[in-house]
Amino acid sequence: MPSPVQRTAIRGRFLDFKNCTSQADQISEQVRYVDDGLLICEQGKIQWFGSWQEGQAKLNANTEFHHYPDHLIVPGFIDTHIHFPQTEMIGAYGEQLLEWLNTYTFPTELQFADKAYADQIAQFFVQELLKNGTTTALVFCTVHPESVDALFEAAAQHQMRLIAGKVLMDRHAPEALCDSADSGYTDSKALIEKWHGKGRNLYAITPRFAPTSSPEQLARAGQLKAEYPDVYVHTHLSENHNEIAWVKQLFPEQNGYLDVYHHYGLTGSRSVFAHCVHLEEHEWQCLHHTDSAIAFCPSSNLFLGSGLFPLHKTWERQVKVGLGTDIGAGTTFNVLHILNEAYKVQQLQGAKLSAFEALYHATLGAAKALDLDDKLGNFKVGKEADFVVLDLNATALQRLRQQRSKHLEDALFALITLADDRNIHATYIYGQRAYYQPNQNSAAGG
Ligand code: GUN
Ligand code: ZN
Repeated sequence: MPSPVQRTAIRGRFLDFKNCTSQADQISEQVRYVDDGLLICEQGKIQWFGSWQEGQAKLNANTEFHHYPDHLIVPGFIDTHIHFPQTEMIGAYGEQLLEWLNTYTFPTELQFADKAYADQIAQFFVQELLKNGTTTALVFCTVHPESVDALFEAAAQHQMRLIAGKVLMDRHAPEALCDSADSGYTDSKALIEKWHGKGRNLYAITPRFAPTSSPEQLARAGQLKAEYPDVYVHTHLSENHNEIAWVKQLFPEQNGYLDVYHHYGLTGSRSVFAHCVHLEEHEWQCLHHTDSAIAFCPSSNLFLGSGLFPLHKTWERQVKVGLGTDIGAGTTFNVLHILNEAYKVQQLQGAKLSAFEALYHATLGAAKALDLDDKLGNFKVGKEADFVVLDLNATALQRLRQQRSKHLEDALFALITLADDRNIHATYIYGQRAYYQPNQNSAAGG
């Protein structure tokens, strides 16, 4: 449980982005680096941010104070697509999407009918997020309402801002994993009433993907979205060629995969579509016009052999995007490592991903993708105080490389390239330290 401390002050080196931008080449203008800074948090929010010189007089006896002279403090990472019930099945061998679902995923998800089991995995999952510096995530649960309760209860112990929902799935899956158009609607509605806007929890209507929902179920999902316009919609889109062909066969009256969701009222500024690897041009246009967002999941796309997502096109087509680990098709919880994979996916397409752009996508850009940039994503006064203290020298190799880094962006790029959970020194949620590991490599001085 969080400690009762109300006021926290953190001194150190801070890096964030002042404002959202619509052009990749304008990101560097938004970089804000404070070499010796001070962040004061009160009641979970950022109350003051600036230089230590200017702010030190604001500290008082009621302020819990932490100084990280050798670290780099950035806004908390935001994972825009992850499945908590798939934590235990990372690294399932040998299949691409549709076979992988049938062989590994559905049998794993069957276990979450048991609330005690769901509780156990939800606790592990939230710890893993914290350990990797992830402070907000958009999460798939399973078809079982209990799985949603388990996750929100675990997140609430840390006052973590999570968005999650019960999977809607009424066909093309094992009987025991299916709901119906009616029960999916009723159960989701009850979960919205129970959890959406309670503490920092937010609800997402979560049809798994078009092939596992009947037209009736998608229509009921659209009805729910119309009744609760500020809840999210979270699903998968255009991940794999066989999947896309199947959707076209199941919904011949619609103009392609995205049009199925659009037809049922499931696009919009709080709709997040995972993958979007093989979009057609009219689908890019639809995402843009409806202000929908993409979750780019490079680790998953490589692991399942799905394809190469063109990140640069999100700027060209003006579509919001965040990064997703997509556990358990993705193979790491670490968003820095996801950025490393994203860089390589861009390289394979002859495009670049700078370190600043990468960090932007994992923080303020992702907050915008989730329509939460008024609350999350940087150190602006009034926003929620979620941030990560990074150790750039967690291993001997990292220390060697960092000693030769030429400037801040080079240091950040080296961090991204070599990162894992050893680089997360502390994670703060709502102004409180929710995770801490002492320096890995004390000889490095942090
Ligand atoms: N498409 C439908 N369900 C899933 C899932 O669980 N993982 C991934 N990567 N794609 C999906
Ligand atoms: Zn997924």
